[in-house]
Amino acid sequence: STAPLVDPYGRAIRYLRISVTDRCDFRCVYCMSENMTFLPKADVLSFEEIDRLASAFIRRGTTKLRLTGGEPLVRRGIVELVQQLARHIGHGLEEITLTTNGSQLAKYAQPLFDAGMRRINVSLDTLDPDRFAQITRWGRLPQVLEGIAAAKAAGLHVKINMVALNGVNDDEFGAMLDWTAAQGHDLVLIETMPLGEIDGDRNEQYLPLKAVRAELERTRTLVDLPDSTGGPARYVRVAETGQRLGFITPLTHNFCESCNRVRLTATGTLFMCLGQDDAADLRAVLRASPDDAALDVALNEAIARKPKGHDFIIDRTARAPAVKRHMSVTGG
Ligand code: GTP
Ligand code: 5AD
Ligand code: SF4
Repeated sequence: STAPLVDPYGRAIRYLRISVTDRCDFRCVYCMSENMTFLPKADVLSFEEIDRLASAFIRRGTTKLRLTGGEPLVRRGIVELVQQLARHIGHGLEEITLTTNGSQLAKYAQPLFDAGMRRINVSLDTLDPDRFAQITRWGRLPQVLEGIAAAKAAGLHVKINMVALNGVNDDEFGAMLDWTAAQGHDLVLIETMPLGEIDGDRNEQYLPLKAVRAELERTRTLVDLPDSTGGPARYVRVAETGQRLGFITPLTHNFCESCNRVRLTATGTLFMCLGQDDAADLRAVLRASPDDAALDVALNEAIARKPKGHDFIIDRTARAPAVKRHMSVTGG
């Protein structure tokens, strides 16, 4: 089938986020607990299976693929997967991109560019080495900075994702904005979302971005921009430097109305919403038949169930997170 995938609220699905592994070489305090149980390796989709699924989505209107994790660059052979998926560019697909913690980027930046990637998002919550070690538990800042420099040198457009953490990096937004502007990178600030059990207290970590924007506006002019990436961020231009700055504010400003995406886990489970637990097992469908007819039916059924939106709230009395799985299962 080539029928476009449109959900019951009239939202066309054009953006598929593919988690290639739920494993990660870091343990960011807002994302994971120190001890994690990962998906069984035997259940992980092969590259052929990922490509078959991606092809079906592209046939039905997907224009943007993003590889995520866990950390996507720890999946063996990842560059071959990018090469394989990049065949679709110009045949329905407009871009293939990636969200990474940057730890392996020094090695992979050039091969990714050569495979057809032009843009990547790198998570970087602080420029202070000790803080970086505190936040990521297992990460080393110099390695990530080296990776980001390699990405720039390879010609990749870099966007930095910074999760705003109350009492941890809330004095660093100006410094991060200056550094990213000097490097020529875009910056996106993100509110923490309540996914999965972590060791700390999410309510304490949560920082609403409204106040951050107001603080930045005391010293800078922020001009609202229309959406341009098809992602959830709302962008402004910093008039003084020309830099683009984004805000992802699921809690203070819901953007579900314009949602265009679904997310696939490493084991082929399709989540229709980041903030809901409902999912469809596409791996079973893939493995039941080499014919895509059943897959098309499964996609129709899944998209028909896409919820109107998440219902994240910061509830100081809640003992359980809104969503049981961790962010690392779907890579955000
Ligand atoms: P662009 O293509 O550059 O716009 O990237 P993106 O923002 O779509 O992707 P990225 O992987 O960089 O995600 C940044 C943050 O946005 C992560 O914290 C994601 O969890 C979050 N995010 C992405 N999609 C959604 C969504 O549909 N709902 C919510 N609540 N958050 C999302
Ligand atoms: N809330 C918000 N953002 C998160 N990320 C990981 N866990 C969370 C969470 N609970 C971010 C990472 C990365 C992106 C994919 O999601 O920092 O930049
Ligand atoms: Fe790994 Fe990213 Fe989660 Fe940090 S936020 S633990 S880098 S998946």
